[in-house]
Amino acid sequence: MQTHAEIAALHFASYNVPGALYAAPGRVNLIGEHTDYSDGFVMPAAIDFATVVAISPRTDGRIVAHSVNYDERIDKSISELLDDDYASRRAGRKVHWSDYPAGVLWALREHGVPIEKGFSLTIEGDVPLGAGLSSSASIEVATAIAVLGATSFDLQSTKIALLCQRAENAFVGANCGIMDQFVSCFGKQDHAVMIDCRWLEYTLAPIPADARIVICNSMVKHSVAGGEYNTRRAEIEAGAEILRKHRPEIVALRDATVDDLTKWGHEMPATVLKRCRHVVTENARVLAAADAFRAANLTRFGELMGQAHISLRDDFEASCKEIDILVELAGQQPGCFGARLTGGGFGGCTVNLVAAAGVGAFTEAMRAGYLEATGITAEIYTSRASAGAHAITL
Ligand code: GLA
Repeated sequence: MQTHAEIAALHFASYNVPGALYAAPGRVNLIGEHTDYSDGFVMPAAIDFATVVAISPRTDGRIVAHSVNYDERIDKSISELLDDDYASRRAGRKVHWSDYPAGVLWALREHGVPIEKGFSLTIEGDVPLGAGLSSSASIEVATAIAVLGATSFDLQSTKIALLCQRAENAFVGANCGIMDQFVSCFGKQDHAVMIDCRWLEYTLAPIPADARIVICNSMVKHSVAGGEYNTRRAEIEAGAEILRKHRPEIVALRDATVDDLTKWGHEMPATVLKRCRHVVTENARVLAAADAFRAANLTRFGELMGQAHISLRDDFEASCKEIDILVELAGQQPGCFGARLTGGGFGGCTVNLVAAAGVGAFTEAMRAGYLEATGITAEIYTSRASAGAHAITL
């Protein structure tokens, strides 16, 4: 990843005008998985990895965007990019990196942001791609705040997160919830963000000073655009529908209790019941985990992470062999309070809460143990919880 000054220089060299720089982070979810799209609770933190967007306005109605990561440039009129590409996306064209910034422009235009004169963009990020650390949300949010900055269009951060989610749902075609875009906007240094996904309200949970977040990348590619994610969403909605017949006040699974599942779960297909049990118990775990952080009780937080993983593995069936190996190995390491699969699942990363003094030994043992068990070299990142999206001043 280049420095901010280098990205600014590259933008100038490409377009002959200075660009304004903006950044938005990826995220790691500490607890609360697959609960956001049924109005539940999640507790992610923004991470030190981000996408940086340099932007300058144009006058010719074109979008010219250069992805440094893909070493590729697109140059299209607004209608080619947003209208033609939208049609071809709907017809099933494979997702391209430019669909994320294009989707954001599309959603912003729909909201009334003046984009018709066009922009030049330089995009570079260091959020690992396909690792379940929300590289997509980071490029979306960075593009959104860049365009809003360039047009002096004032929008509240919650609205920015919602428009980025809309871009991903309706333009890119991935049916994600609100967690990733929200925390990319609202992240705060050294804090996890406990989000109530129904009301889009949040509270900050301070991460105790003697704990570190260590992320182990299984190197098994994860994608929200894949079919499993949508299947899980449909199962959760089917379960809520059955409970609603008995308790009409259940708008989403967030409103259901374990008691409801005990009473009426037999009316559901066995798989649907398992999926619902994960979500209902996970919501309770998030609330308990927020209390544990407030009390600086890392042992308790770690226990909840362990339970969350088992639930995600057995009831939600969103784990995979490699991820389970990482979680099991982490459980054997001194100084590790808890470990679990993070993000959408079916590959990607684990999140580990580790005593600050033990991070070095933990990292080495994890790398060696995983290589021995799978033949794969894991990438391991230590991150602080970082700030949300912001403009960069050079
Ligand atoms: C992906 C989605 C999020 C959320 C997680 C699972 O990251 O983008 O909205 O549903 O999966 O918790």
